Amino acid sequence: MKEQQLVELLQEMTVEEKVGQLIQLTPDFFDRDGGAITGPVQEWNIPEKQLFQMGSVLGTHTAEQVYKIQKNFLEKSRLKIPLMFMADVIHGFETIYPIPLALASTFDENLVEEVAHHSAAEASRAGIHVTFSPMADHVKDSRWGRVLESNGEDPTLSKALTKAYVRGYQGSDLANNPVDIAACVKHFIGYGASEAGRDYNAVDFSELEMYQNYLPAFEGAIEEDVKLVMTSFNTMSGMPVSGNRHLLQDVLRKRLGFEGVIISDWAAVAELMSHRVAQNSREAAELAFHAGVDIEMMSDTYLKNLKDLIITKEAEDALDQSVMRILILKNDLGLFENPFRGMDKISFNEEMQKELNKHVQSVAEKAAVLLKNEAVLPLKEKENVLLVGPKATSQDVLGAWAAIGAEADAISLAQGLQEKKLNLTVLGDADHLQEIIDAAKNAEKIVIAIGETSEEAGEAASKTALTLPKDQVELVKEISKVNSNIILVVYSGRPLVLTDVEPFVSGIVEAWFLGTQSGLALANLLVGQANFQGKLPMSFPRNTGQLPYSYREMSTGRALTEENKKEKYVSRYLDEKNDALYPFGYGLSYSEFQISSPILSSKEITSDEELIISVNVKNISDSQGVATIQLYIQDVFSEVVRPIKELLKWKQVLLQPQEEQTVQFTILEKDLRYVHADLERRSDSGEFKIFIGQDSRYGLQTDSFHLKVLS
Ligand code: NOJ
Repeated sequence: MKEQQLVELLQEMTVEEKVGQLIQLTPDFFDRDGGAITGPVQEWNIPEKQLFQMGSVLGTHTAEQVYKIQKNFLEKSRLKIPLMFMADVIHGFETIYPIPLALASTFDENLVEEVAHHSAAEASRAGIHVTFSPMADHVKDSRWGRVLESNGEDPTLSKALTKAYVRGYQGSDLANNPVDIAACVKHFIGYGASEAGRDYNAVDFSELEMYQNYLPAFEGAIEEDVKLVMTSFNTMSGMPVSGNRHLLQDVLRKRLGFEGVIISDWAAVAELMSHRVAQNSREAAELAFHAGVDIEMMSDTYLKNLKDLIITKEAEDALDQSVMRILILKNDLGLFENPFRGMDKISFNEEMQKELNKHVQSVAEKAAVLLKNEAVLPLKEKENVLLVGPKATSQDVLGAWAAIGAEADAISLAQGLQEKKLNLTVLGDADHLQEIIDAAKNAEKIVIAIGETSEEAGEAASKTALTLPKDQVELVKEISKVNSNIILVVYSGRPLVLTDVEPFVSGIVEAWFLGTQSGLALANLLVGQANFQGKLPMSFPRNTGQLPYSYREMSTGRALTEENKKEKYVSRYLDEKNDALYPFGYGLSYSEFQISSPILSSKEITSDEELIISVNVKNISDSQGVATIQLYIQDVFSEVVRPIKELLKWKQVLLQPQEEQTVQFTILEKDLRYVHADLERRSDSGEFKIFIGQDSRYGLQTDSFHLKVLS
């Protein structure tokens, strides 16, 4: 449709019809199947006429369901504006990829883009038009279960990956490519800082912190033309974001330049009453609408009150603008031309499913992280291997946001290892400890599969202690008394505290929730048919009490150093080290890489010049592997306090045994900008230290250069 036609359509709409576009309902409102009207349909008491004025639907699962609802809707609605169908397609729809935190471990934007593209294609075949992804929340506290959906603790990595998701979902021509779907970046803003790591809890931090660390990933999504932004549940500066005009208008619309649709999170508008900033449903609707929420998700304050609130010219204009944004989105999706987009054209066959599974497996292989390997891995052919632990035969490997992915389709570690040439014994969880100990005595290697269930990570899955459950720790300790060749395979949706088991084992693999092909990927890695390359996108703390934690520690007035470590009045704990057990960016491989000292194209650049930093990377092992070379930076003096070290750039190289390659990083003035006290992002003249290595802590090569900003 041409824009003029959209304007004409808007002019034809009644206020009720306009309000309808701003309301989102679940399928059961529409898909009554001639049965009794029960549940929310009954409670919300929506007259039939109003039902056929609605704008969008959340949570359908099949093409048949979407087709039926859309067809019936278009027959009955006066203006025949197609419904828009939205769903949580987070890491796959039916075929499930690794959880986002695991995808972030790949440090690979192209791969994430591919994942999003395949997920979109699968969802679009089921009639989905919009996914509530990516989650761009900045996180530092893995007590919060939703770190599972994040890109980890580094804002630069998170921004790059957020952009990749949006590109992957939306493609380059949504209207004409029905395999692409619109992305909704969430949760704007600050949800990841839920106080004490408790989900849905209050949030407050400075605007400087918001601009520096929380907004960049959202800015990235907007740079990629993300179509929707979801408002978060939490408060900021005393006002829930879903009713916060300053954040939605001054920051999101004006400063970040977002022109698309703003949707609330699930019932977040009605929750303005629970927050006690609205006394009733009408006030809640008024606050959210005035703040600029276009679509209210799953609560009924707009449904009940919005029409009565459209009494001023200003309100009328605001309503028209919201409706227009929604019509533009529907038009961008090509829905006016084809309300059944995606469902009717593509035939998907078994061959294609096999290809997709292969892709999922290769991604999973890149996402697992090898944390420890004291010569226990890879497992050798014909080796006597004992596999035990609650996760050994478990198909609970998809994670908490597995859309319609079925656990029955997921491959367990036992299934994966059974296909390998090992002398494998599997003793699952139910077996008696004594039987396990006896078997352990005779095994050459013991793989213990432990960790979280998918219920323990994700939304509403906050924890106060991130250690493994007692019985799992006991299992590890008991086995270690008879055989120390233990490899832990840890399943989790978050960094766990492994301090109490680490000394008892010789190998640790972080297996996250790797999705449908989990068992095959892990088995390949464990026997060395694939090589590890994953890097931690979030530090694994030594103790839950360190949280919130990030490797991007800020300079303090009393930093702990080698020289002052015996003094009392320095920034440290009495009972634990400051740093993480496994730092950000860390992950081992079967290969070993050596990095030369950096070579700088110049020791001083002006703001219109570029600096090239090169290092030689050599694979000094006999295994081919991928090295992730990470460049960290420190702005030596700055106007506001900055991290001691933060990721600036990274590059991946595949190296054959003994191969050497040069890796180059180009640095421009714009890479060196940070948010100043006036909330503007710019750089200052001065010295910068650089650190290059394979993680944020160990074996870093250092140098420095000077930037001269020309005015
Ligand atoms: C609530 C979650 O916070 C959000 O991330 C999700 O997209 C919506 N529910 C819709 O399911």
